[in-house]
Amino acid sequence: MNRRNLLLGAGALAVAGGAGVAGWRASVGSVADYDRYSDRLRAAMPPDPAMADLIRYATLAANGHNTQPWRFRIKGETIDILPDLSRRTPVVDPDDHHLFVSLGCAAENLRIAATATGRPGALSIDDAGARYVFDRGSARTDPLFAAIPARRCSRTLYDGRPVPNSDLETLRRATDTPGVRLVLLTDRPRIDQARDLVVAGNEAQMTDPAFMAELKRWLRFNPGDAMRTGDGLYSAASGSPILPAGLGGIAFDRFFAAAAENEKYARQIDSSSGLAVFLAERADPAHWMTVGRACQRFMLAATALDLRCAFVNQPVEVAGLRPALADLAGEAGLRPDLVLRFGRGPVLPFAPRRPVAAVIV
Ligand SMILES: Cc1cc2nc3c(=O)[nH]c(=O)nc-3n(C[C@H](O)[C@H](O)[C@H](O)COP(=O)(O)O)c2cc1C
Repeated sequence: MNRRNLLLGAGALAVAGGAGVAGWRASVGSVADYDRYSDRLRAAMPPDPAMADLIRYATLAANGHNTQPWRFRIKGETIDILPDLSRRTPVVDPDDHHLFVSLGCAAENLRIAATATGRPGALSIDDAGARYVFDRGSARTDPLFAAIPARRCSRTLYDGRPVPNSDLETLRRATDTPGVRLVLLTDRPRIDQARDLVVAGNEAQMTDPAFMAELKRWLRFNPGDAMRTGDGLYSAASGSPILPAGLGGIAFDRFFAAAAENEKYARQIDSSSGLAVFLAERADPAHWMTVGRACQRFMLAATALDLRCAFVNQPVEVAGLRPALADLAGEAGLRPDLVLRFGRGPVLPFAPRRPVAAVIV
């Protein structure tokens, strides 16, 4: 019996044990309600959008553990994007690297959305955060704009077929950012070596009780909890079953084992067409935000090409594995920032987001 069947079995037992179907529904919420909530978050931008609409698009960016560690401050024609340090993940991200990358992802979404809807401007970045200053020019279309509400991480198996060189070139061009190096690994020997680093990193993380405790705090086992908090890692968005929170916690403690997860990551990478490794030329918050901007552009360009991506960041999160990954990418001496796998495959439900009002200060 695999872990999924065990979990489903546990769920069936709980129902039979007295909770009943109605009790089960009440404790997990409704998938249909979640779909409507998710559609509202990703509703198309009106033609003359308010600041709140632009910020909504910014918050659809990728971000570590979906903590959404950002605050937006509107002052006249300026939006500041600032870190929310109450949403740090100190175990997996002790130096706030992922936190600043996440701010960069949001800043790039904001810039693309503003430019495409008639509010071009200038985005500046320093070690404290990002600032977008509007000037009212005319809208400039950008193929990445339509991809903002469609982008998501797809933690699924891909079909393993090579991505055509023309698409790889499109991804490179979209990502091209001063200060950031993008290395595409598309040959099997190097993908295999990267896979082994991901598995080694996963093993290290899953045998670290502090890592597991932090991860568990951000898991949302059902649509009800995902909508209530508007943040965190919604189980269905990772292909895991929906469970009441209490049962989900027990299942996580008992059945979420390194060996099975290692095998899952290995299969997922084997099914991928390639890996994208991002490396900034310097390691400081401003450069991490710049990496976030580049990575968000990569994911949007992939979405526009109907390609899927998902992060496999274990060898950047486990510091001891970074030099081997940098060597593999041909960039010895740099700190690797992010690893994405990409290819073609199915999607899973979208991740939740908090309402815009919760992130404006
Ligand atoms: C800096 C950073 C690090 C991330 N690391 C991982 C990771 O190691 N594994 C993973 O599955 N997702 C990772 N993610 C993806 C987030 O979990 C994801 O963006 C978030 O849950 C929101 O989901 P969405 O991107 O589908 O909207 C990372 C994202 C960022 C920006």
